[in-house]
Amino acid sequence: KPEICAVLGSGLGGYADSPSVVRGLEVPYSDIPGFPVSTTAGHDGKYIFAHVKGVPVVIMKGRVHMYEGYSAGDSVLPVRTAGLMGARTLILTNAAGGINRSLRPGDLMLIRDHISVFVPSPLRGANIDELGERFTDMTHVYSERLSDTVRKCARELNMTLKEGVYAQLPGPQYETPAEIRMLSALGADAVGMSTAAEAIAARHMKMDVCAVSCITNMAAGIGNAPLSHEEVQITADSARERFEKLITSVISNIG
Ligand code: HPA
Repeated sequence: KPEICAVLGSGLGGYADSPSVVRGLEVPYSDIPGFPVSTTAGHDGKYIFAHVKGVPVVIMKGRVHMYEGYSAGDSVLPVRTAGLMGARTLILTNAAGGINRSLRPGDLMLIRDHISVFVPSPLRGANIDELGERFTDMTHVYSERLSDTVRKCARELNMTLKEGVYAQLPGPQYETPAEIRMLSALGADAVGMSTAAEAIAARHMKMDVCAVSCITNMAAGIGNAPLSHEEVQITADSARERFEKLITSVISNIG
């Protein structure tokens, strides 16, 4: 029975192969009737049940994005199921574009809050009363206690940890420079195509949530370079060792 669910974002899927992960049962989403199946390169979707430093976790390798054609509700089914399996803590990771000019590709950024208004709510439709209440408070989506643990782990590992507000956009196209200026004016520090919906679904179930972005590129118009998924994967890969150490330390500190 997992205590923690960890969702691995773009390029971070290798975490499950790291030596600190003692792997058990693996369940591909395609084996679960009715489950959404992710179609993005580098996102083969499955649950990996494992122990990390003795803590029972379920790792979601690959996630389901709305841009694949799934509804917001379907995109959070794997997170909800992890919650129903017993995970009370959700650790979300993703690759994101940096909007705040103090961010650099390769930076790890603790998500302090999010902007999700550009994507449909995963709670839309009849409320599932067994999971949570109709109107869910979003004042503290990202647990201050867990965020403090992430800060402490980064300090102990001598790692720089940036912090900021993450905006989820629908994708799959990257943003235009005008959209990035808009997001900047709205207070977003980083942008991506996941995470906020999962965090909302988890808070609906009263799971405790923390989230870390790997800044893989500067957002459109902030740098001069055109954006590519390849660049995202290459930068995520170069940050992988640091990211893996941080996640392992966070899991062992909250388990
Ligand atoms: N925009 C949206 N999603 C992303 C980006 C970006 O610049 N980088 C990684 N995921």
